[in-house]
Amino acid sequence: MTNERRFRIGVLGSGKGSNFVAIADACAAGSVPAEVALVLSDVAEAGILSRARERVIPAFFLPPGKFRTKLDEETEHNYVEALQAAQVDLVVLAGFMRVLKEAFLNAFAGRIVNIHPSLLPSFPGLAAWEQALAHGVRVTGCTVHFVDAGVDSGPIIGQQTVPVLDDDTDETLLQRIHSAEHVLYPKCVAAIARGEISIRGRRVLWRSG
Ligand code: GRF
Repeated sequence: MTNERRFRIGVLGSGKGSNFVAIADACAAGSVPAEVALVLSDVAEAGILSRARERVIPAFFLPPGKFRTKLDEETEHNYVEALQAAQVDLVVLAGFMRVLKEAFLNAFAGRIVNIHPSLLPSFPGLAAWEQALAHGVRVTGCTVHFVDAGVDSGPIIGQQTVPVLDDDTDETLLQRIHSAEHVLYPKCVAAIARGEISIRGRRVLWRSG
């Protein structure tokens, strides 16, 4: 037994929480050297909260305030305070459907990551898999990136491709992308927790341990 402090992750999500599950279970299995210290959601009945509680991880609904796509100032303060009180080293966005503003970004500068269901910079924004299908690309995928003030625009940490098949529907393509996400996100978070990731301008460099 060692008393070494574990790397602490705070997860924000608005939906089912399948990426949260992939990361939390990888932490529990030891393949991500970290622990999920806190889960926050802007949706009271979000699956991510119940899936966290099943794993005995502190999980709270924090009311999102008056806006639809962002947090108002007071709400943003509440999120930052909760994450700081939990002493998180990294904020992991996993299907969090609100854009984070300056106060939040500054509080966790360079320590917020997101996953997006396309190969950025293609198809940022909503329903990226539908955009990919509508455009007719033969390959799409998912991207883990640092979060900056733009929408899905920060430095790219990792990407995983998936093929688009002739008979794909929105659902089948999304399912394939999700499966890739559940491998890519824990891998990227593990590398960050191990201190193997650095940023040079827009480029993210991986140092193997
Ligand atoms: C994922 O597809 C992710 O790429 C996007 O939101 C979705 C979250 O799904 N940002 P889940 O809640 O992790 O199941």
